[in-house]
Amino acid sequence: MERKILFPQISGIMHGGDYNPEQWLDRPDILEEDVRLMKEAGMTSATLGVFSWSAYEPKEGEFHFEWLKEIMDRLYENGIHTVLATPSGARPAWLDQKYPEAMRVDSYGVRYHHGVRHNHCMSAPVYREKVSIILNKLIDAVGDHPGLVMWHISNEFGGECFCPHCVKRFQNYLAEKFDHDIDKLNHAWWTAFWSHTYNDFSQIEPPYSNGECSNMGLTLEWKRFTTWSMTDYMKSEIDILKQRSPQIPVTTNYMKLYPGLDYRVMSKELDVVSWDSYPAFHNDWETFADTMGENAFDHAVMRSMKKDKPFMLMESAPGLVNWHDCNKMKRPGVHRLASLQAVALGSDTVQYFQWRKGRGSFEQYHGAVLDHLGRSDTRIFREVAEVGADLAKLSDLRGTLVKSKVALLFDWDNMWSIDAMRGLSQETKKYPETCIKFYKYLMHFGVDVDVIPSDDPLDGYDVVVAPMLYMLRTGVADSLKAFVKRGGQLLATYVTGYVDENQLNFLGGFPGDGLTELFGVISEEIDSLYPTDCNEVCFTDGSKGQVRDYAEMLRLLDAKTLATYEQDYYGGMPAVTVKDTGSGSAYYVAARLDDETMIRLLGQLLEKAQIPTYHLPEGVEHHTREADGQMFDFYLNCSQQPVEIEAVSGTELLTGEAVSGAYHLKPYGVCIIARK
Ligand code: GLA
Ligand code: ZN
Repeated sequence: MERKILFPQISGIMHGGDYNPEQWLDRPDILEEDVRLMKEAGMTSATLGVFSWSAYEPKEGEFHFEWLKEIMDRLYENGIHTVLATPSGARPAWLDQKYPEAMRVDSYGVRYHHGVRHNHCMSAPVYREKVSIILNKLIDAVGDHPGLVMWHISNEFGGECFCPHCVKRFQNYLAEKFDHDIDKLNHAWWTAFWSHTYNDFSQIEPPYSNGECSNMGLTLEWKRFTTWSMTDYMKSEIDILKQRSPQIPVTTNYMKLYPGLDYRVMSKELDVVSWDSYPAFHNDWETFADTMGENAFDHAVMRSMKKDKPFMLMESAPGLVNWHDCNKMKRPGVHRLASLQAVALGSDTVQYFQWRKGRGSFEQYHGAVLDHLGRSDTRIFREVAEVGADLAKLSDLRGTLVKSKVALLFDWDNMWSIDAMRGLSQETKKYPETCIKFYKYLMHFGVDVDVIPSDDPLDGYDVVVAPMLYMLRTGVADSLKAFVKRGGQLLATYVTGYVDENQLNFLGGFPGDGLTELFGVISEEIDSLYPTDCNEVCFTDGSKGQVRDYAEMLRLLDAKTLATYEQDYYGGMPAVTVKDTGSGSAYYVAARLDDETMIRLLGQLLEKAQIPTYHLPEGVEHHTREADGQMFDFYLNCSQQPVEIEAVSGTELLTGEAVSGAYHLKPYGVCIIARK
């Protein structure tokens, strides 16, 4: 496949960050200094205009883009390209004063006041009109600027709106979805329960906080609607951009597994996926390697939304943020490690929030490349410049991909339904956490994993892991069956296949939709354990594992038992089973087992599927990017100890050295080995 280079204009991996010159327009000296220092830091891009609406249009209909043009010119003359945001992430005061309907309505039905950001109504016609005007003016001013390489739409879409407009749109959306047949909806949402049957779509209200929050079908569909509505809004901006400046790719920046929007749906409208990564480094609840592991999972989620091209790390903090509970500094070396981790997992950019700290307001203490001190001889500036120098050496990586034979299924829909479900234990459901753990179990073997929605095609994968796949969307069960039939290794767990996509339970045994046959078991009961309860399982080879939180009781059909429970009234009953179909296998893990046991089990699947694994020192990550027969192995030392990597051979890209044999990495050290 041909490499897709996101930014051919830039020779290395893009190095940039949010730049807010509109806060400094009265300080031309600082604006000049910025460009000089950006070059010193090895920056190749700047993200402009994220919150510039009131600088562009200080009064309704009065536009000023001269300053922007001047800055883009100066950046470009100095080899710095522009990622240009559309300014819709926050509104000027005049707009909200004159057009209050542009502001959102909250879940109690109360209209927001002017302030903060990301709080516009997605469907208000007047807001769309105002955005369309400013966008067209912006394109008139700089749409053909030679430095412009990307449109960044709005900023971190999020939230929901309960205004009358949005409610009406919700009702129309539902009418469409259920073929204008209210009985279909009543059945799908099981509304006879508590006598909540609707006669007409106009009776349906969104899940107001003081209204109907008890219907699982409704709450789920509201989430899907909010994604649809946000995407529809985003498309209204994309349409203008694509019409007026089709040559420039578009993105918007995501926030981890932000639970309010299904990013997979939004991504279909984007050219490139980008996201903002702000892990709580050096926290007091997990190891540093665990923090990095979760970040790796997040990168994998983003990467897997568009598997044919790299993604972008749109924001990260050079030193610290200001919104964690405790804003701890990245320790020396960690900035480089985290930046190169993004690249290892398929990002073709390393970008920051923010270039320069502002003097006032909400983010005045948020980390930046340039502090209030304003000098380049600081630790943070030096570390950023070091990253800049590294990224400049990585031209060969541009457009290479992380390819994986292993997929982990993770659905926003499934997250929403597990969250909404009144069952299990509210405290310990932990669906995303469980997916992240499974990803880390696989990372233990140095194996890269795609994190994909359950209804993505499974061709090309040899191992599929589906933790807590509570909801089976249409077609998923068939796709899993076909996967095993063609020789795939599948592992599912407790809480699989309880409901369909409307949250209606399957009848005739879980996992539903025909999966009892695939796994050869029926899950008859599920026991939720208190945090201090535990049970054990014993495998046929005598090894033991610990059970916490959840244990299902299985009725064995034609699966083979690999482990049984040790205690309680289900002692002796199957806890881990497998059913083979040809060379394919369907494993069912009926309980939440300890890490070591799960790593062992997943190791067996990888071995069966003949997936190459790596023997890595504790705390070391391994990832591979590749293209055209060229492989790039990344080793990231996420421990505070020096480590030796066994048997590497090739050229180390950052030093240019030929290497062969053991390779030494210092604490937080990174190497990238190019090999054929
Ligand atoms: C988000 C936003 C930025 C900034 C940073 C702070 O990612 O997009 O504007 O507020 O958070 O970490
Ligand atoms: Zn609204």
